[in-house]
Amino acid sequence: MNETIYRPGLEGIVAGETSISSIADGLRYRGYPIEQLAQYSSFEEVAYLVLHGELPTRSQLDHFRNQLRQAMELPEEIVATLRSIPPGVPMMDVMRTGASLLGHWDEQAQDISAEATLAKAVRLVARLPLVMCYRHRLREGQQVVPPRKDQSVAYNILWMLRGQEPQPDHVRALDVTLILYVEHEFNASTFTARVVASTLSDLHSAVTAAIGALKGPLHGGANERVLDYLLKLRSPEEAAQWVQQALDRKERIMGFGHRVYRTGDPRAAILAPYCEQLAAQTGNQSMEAVAARIEQEVRQQKNIPPNVDYPAGRLYYYLGLAVDLYTPLFVISRTVGWSAHVLEQQAANRLIRPRARYVGAEPRDYVPVQQRG
Ligand code: SDX
Repeated sequence: MNETIYRPGLEGIVAGETSISSIADGLRYRGYPIEQLAQYSSFEEVAYLVLHGELPTRSQLDHFRNQLRQAMELPEEIVATLRSIPPGVPMMDVMRTGASLLGHWDEQAQDISAEATLAKAVRLVARLPLVMCYRHRLREGQQVVPPRKDQSVAYNILWMLRGQEPQPDHVRALDVTLILYVEHEFNASTFTARVVASTLSDLHSAVTAAIGALKGPLHGGANERVLDYLLKLRSPEEAAQWVQQALDRKERIMGFGHRVYRTGDPRAAILAPYCEQLAAQTGNQSMEAVAARIEQEVRQQKNIPPNVDYPAGRLYYYLGLAVDLYTPLFVISRTVGWSAHVLEQQAANRLIRPRARYVGAEPRDYVPVQQRG
């Protein structure tokens, strides 16, 4: 077959078909606009929708929620491993290890049937929050706080991190971020999961690989990198100067730009009011003022809007969460999307194996070492 289209980074290349989400006119999960899902739904209900393709009935939702909550537990061996990981290991590396470890204690790990993959997805979505929260408590020298099985994923993340009853508006804000992070077509980590799935490998392998992809600052890691600069800029004026210097150095401003959205990421617009409300509640108006000026400068100078990670990082900071938990929160949510894509890929599979354009040395013959210069 002769060489076909080549685009660096596969930009603009349609590499497959999906019925899970579309980003052509705003972002829709299974046809539903995220604006409506963010306003009326919950992470658990959206997880059911993305995994099953339809919104659940009341009994289906209750059953799904119960499945998740009953699966919120970790084998003692995994807790012991989380305790033994050296200090300073980034939480995204712990999540990568955690996803892989969970496969060792999942009796369906090697079963790639759709039924087993769906069951494993529920267990991963239920257990990865415990990997993050237990590790965080252990690295802080604190006892782990087991989840409350009568509460949601968002509630339990805040509960397990602090051991205190979380404020309802904090739970809701976190739940909305989990809804918005669930799924986003063929982004880098999701495509990674599909490549792994296309070899007929298993869900834990696909999710572990996807976590590795999401860690990168050009992708999910950006929501943490946003805080690197927001925490050091003290005023809008200083921020404007910093933007100018960064752009002059041809640097990428983390939290801005997108490979597909060129006029704005709809998720960023949804999270903005949550940021404003939480900033006012937590005395962080100055960070919001700095963030607003940065957005103004980047739009004016590069005509580049913020992406979801720009408000998400601030929102997590206002919730008082440690910065290196922000991309792991993205993992917890996107495990739903990755799992749905693994199911979709394996339901009508074709090994993903693109071609490369060769630009190396001309054909040549071997030269024995004694004759080499
Ligand atoms: C996510 O794909 C997804 O769907 C991802 C995601 C999801 O839900 O899975 O939406 C989540 O990953 C959001 C993106 C988070 N990443 C960042 O915030 C990192 C900073 N952003 C950039 O690195 C960049 O915008 C990308 C990587 C996100 C997209 O970049 P592209 O499409 O590869 O564009 P490019 O690098 O070719 O840049 C095109 C132009 C360049 O200018 P010129 O050199 O042509 O003059 O836009 C400029 C770039 O310099 N540009 C930026 C910029 N992003 C692009 N300039 C300054 N700051 C930026 N952030």
